[in-house]
Amino acid sequence: MSDHADLSALLLSRIRDVADYPEPGVMFKDITPLLADPKAFDALTDALADVARRADATKIVGLEARGFILGAPVAVRAGLGFIPVRKAGKLPGATLRQSYDLEYGSAEIEVHAEDLGAEDRVLVVDDVLATGGTAEASVQLIRRAGAEVAGLAVLMELGFLDGRARLEPALAGAPLEALLTV
Ligand code: PRP
Ligand code: MG
Repeated sequence: MSDHADLSALLLSRIRDVADYPEPGVMFKDITPLLADPKAFDALTDALADVARRADATKIVGLEARGFILGAPVAVRAGLGFIPVRKAGKLPGATLRQSYDLEYGSAEIEVHAEDLGAEDRVLVVDDVLATGGTAEASVQLIRRAGAEVAGLAVLMELGFLDGRARLEPALAGAPLEALLTV
């Protein structure tokens, strides 16, 4: 088996399917078993740090909340700064804010404006790509801050929701790397 197949099997074995959560009909992908397994978390961190190196990133943006857990160790391993993109109202300094649509209503995310600039190539890290709304808003924020988007890296992509197609125009050629497609 290839290293890639070994990694995929390890990661997949540590993601728990939870039926009907948070509402009936939804299959929730729970990554807490993966986080609790140091070997799997280490392998995941390595794989995402490799993406950062290949993308020539200068900074890692993590998306609150699960993107913080995955993105922060990637930044340390790749030797890059970590920039949090938070849900609105949590950052104390001057921010840029971006709204995006949810199934019902909308949400807003923010970044400290001074954390990103024209010299930066940013890799966005998150756990799941679903509809792509959160990732798309983060890409818009990074561009508005004047930085370049080096790519988006996720642990898993929910292929049936086709977030990839939605994101392609926003990414404008920057790579979207999903370690698993489920
Ligand atoms: C989840 C997930 C991704 C996002 C993907 O975050 O962690 O960030 O949804 O969905 P999308 O592609 O349809 O935008 P959520 O805000 O639900 O929770 P979290 O704070 O636990 O990360
Ligand atoms: Mg999230």
